[in-house]
Amino acid sequence: MALIEVNTEECIKCGICIAACPTGVLVMGEKVPEELMAQNCIACGHCVAICPKRAINNIKTPLENQTELKELPPLDKETAQQFLRSRRSIRCYKNTLVPQDKLLELVEIARFAPTASNGQGISYLIINDKQLLKRVTEVVIEWMEAEVLKGPKTHWSLPLHIRAYREQGLDNILRDAPHLILAMAQKDFVRGRENSVFSLAYLELFAPSLGLGSCWAGIVEMCIFAGYAPLLELFNVPKDKAITGAVMVGYPKYKFKRLVDRNPLEVHWL
Ligand SMILES: Cc1cc2nc3c(=O)[nH]c(=O)nc-3n(C[C@H](O)[C@H](O)[C@H](O)COP(=O)(O)O)c2cc1C
Repeated sequence: MALIEVNTEECIKCGICIAACPTGVLVMGEKVPEELMAQNCIACGHCVAICPKRAINNIKTPLENQTELKELPPLDKETAQQFLRSRRSIRCYKNTLVPQDKLLELVEIARFAPTASNGQGISYLIINDKQLLKRVTEVVIEWMEAEVLKGPKTHWSLPLHIRAYREQGLDNILRDAPHLILAMAQKDFVRGRENSVFSLAYLELFAPSLGLGSCWAGIVEMCIFAGYAPLLELFNVPKDKAITGAVMVGYPKYKFKRLVDRNPLEVHWL
């Protein structure tokens, strides 16, 4: 079956679909665009989504599955800047579970992040079980203790977190968050980590719109990427998959009142 179908009545031969295609799948034929190298199609859907006349269809990204863009008020610069800058890492959570449908809404947006060659390939493991999360923290602390014993090359923060846990019972690993969301990819997927980082970044940006907060679980990731078996066993990940990212999620206990600054902008021009 052909990849592309063009409605010859509607097509105005503007060539936008050809210009927008990232992999040169289309060429202008005598009457309308035609596929030249169908095997190169990465199913990004640009050709279909950009056509001003709804004249082109692609079996990999059918027109009927695309959503018409609504005429929403454009996000003005100040709103967009505040939206991006007001995402903060949340380290104090309410002791309340987030309903499953809300967590699903959250990961639903995560899958729209850009991925290399539109490879996508990220799935999610959502942990709701408080006891399991407590066990995760405990096991990560045990791993950190073993790492610290190995010598001075370990991350500077590990001894601090171990002490906080052992002496004060503080969970600096998962911050008592009620949920941990793990990104996963096929073990042999070379872009798994990169795609997961973008995906979880989308999730983090969207979380406040659902009244949620999040924080990257970097220490959990360190333990996972070190291949620490007692932790990996807890997650019971399918054999063909690897964990490629981790973010804690819950309802924030407090609200930020101010935006912070970062290091001064450094730009080089050529
Ligand atoms: C890859 C990565 C790993 C991180 N790991 C942790 C972590 O383990 N624990 C934590 O509390 N915050 C973690 N963070 C959050 C950073 O500390 C935070 O992004 C940074 O301090 C800036 O603050 P903001 O996110 O509130 O703007 C991590 C962030 C990233 C991007």
